[in-house]
Amino acid sequence: MLDPQLFQDLVAEARLAPSVHNIQPTRWRREGDSILVLADESRRLPAADPSGHDIRLSHGAAIEGLSLALGLRGLRIGGIETAVDGMPAQGVVARITLAPGGEADPLAGAVASRASWRGAFRQRDPDLPSRLAHLDEVTDDLVIIGVSDAVSEVADLADRAAFHFLCDDAHRRELLHWMRLSRADPRYGLDGLDAQALALGRIEAIAASLVLGPLFPALRRVGLAAPLTSERGKTASGVIALFHRPIGEDVLQTGRAFYRAWLAMERAGLAACPISVLADWPLSNAALVERFAVPSDRRLVNVFRMGSPPQRGPARHARLALHDLIVR
Ligand SMILES: Cc1cc2nc3c(=O)[nH]c(=O)nc-3n(C[C@H](O)[C@H](O)[C@H](O)COP(=O)(O)O)c2cc1C
Repeated sequence: MLDPQLFQDLVAEARLAPSVHNIQPTRWRREGDSILVLADESRRLPAADPSGHDIRLSHGAAIEGLSLALGLRGLRIGGIETAVDGMPAQGVVARITLAPGGEADPLAGAVASRASWRGAFRQRDPDLPSRLAHLDEVTDDLVIIGVSDAVSEVADLADRAAFHFLCDDAHRRELLHWMRLSRADPRYGLDGLDAQALALGRIEAIAASLVLGPLFPALRRVGLAAPLTSERGKTASGVIALFHRPIGEDVLQTGRAFYRAWLAMERAGLAACPISVLADWPLSNAALVERFAVPSDRRLVNVFRMGSPPQRGPARHARLALHDLIVR
């Protein structure tokens, strides 16, 4: 069922799934007709993700990417054994067995075009209400906030949350480590957050490396660090979606749903970008849960800003080569 060429094709599609800071922690091994999903333990985010939650969520998104790729080929995930099921081996995230009888999922059509959109959103798009209505119809995992006063409120909170984390030296250093702000960076286009993906021009990218790097403490002292790192304008130009999942759910499963929610946005014609800090900071998480009535049996996992992008070229994905992702 699983020859080497098919395996490569599957991984090529699964790698388009989002991962936190684009660290791409997931590795793949073919074992007969099974696929082992492995964690590259050297890729971690001790400052931004000390518990490994977002990394596990990223593995889950990659598994959903695999599932969508299988469906396009009449295959499906027949069984999935995870650490939760008592899998012993270190670094093994899941063992997946394949089965026939898969079907093409409509969301698979959005995989190639989905990408994080970090610019501002188009204003006065007459189709926006119908796009939002379509999205609302296809998922129960989102609370959509479209009223502009409420969006502005969330944009302010997002800036506060982001600044809270940026003031932590280790957090800022780690973020810069995964930023590829110069095209001369040998890892540009392979992993991490590059200037193009961050919607930064050349001068803005140089400024970002200084503001988040050596100048941050001095800028903070004179009160300029917060305004210079603000994303308020971009966030307030769109609408907000609170992504929530059942309390106690295995985060691998959460990651699969996270990718599906993002693909549903793409399919509805909405560009999007997570604002993780809003969910990660307990203060903003609790405020959003209360203010926007996230159901009590659900956990606020992440927050998206989304909207209609001004113009859309072909999606671009900075990704590792297949030979780095497939291990023997
Ligand atoms: C768990 C998780 C959290 C993320 N948080 C953020 C975030 O806070 N800000 C952001 O700009 N992108 C965030 N992203 C998006 C990733 O940076 C993005 O998926 C990655 O760079 C790959 O790029 P792509 O989405 O364009 O394919 C997050 C992704 C995941 C899976």
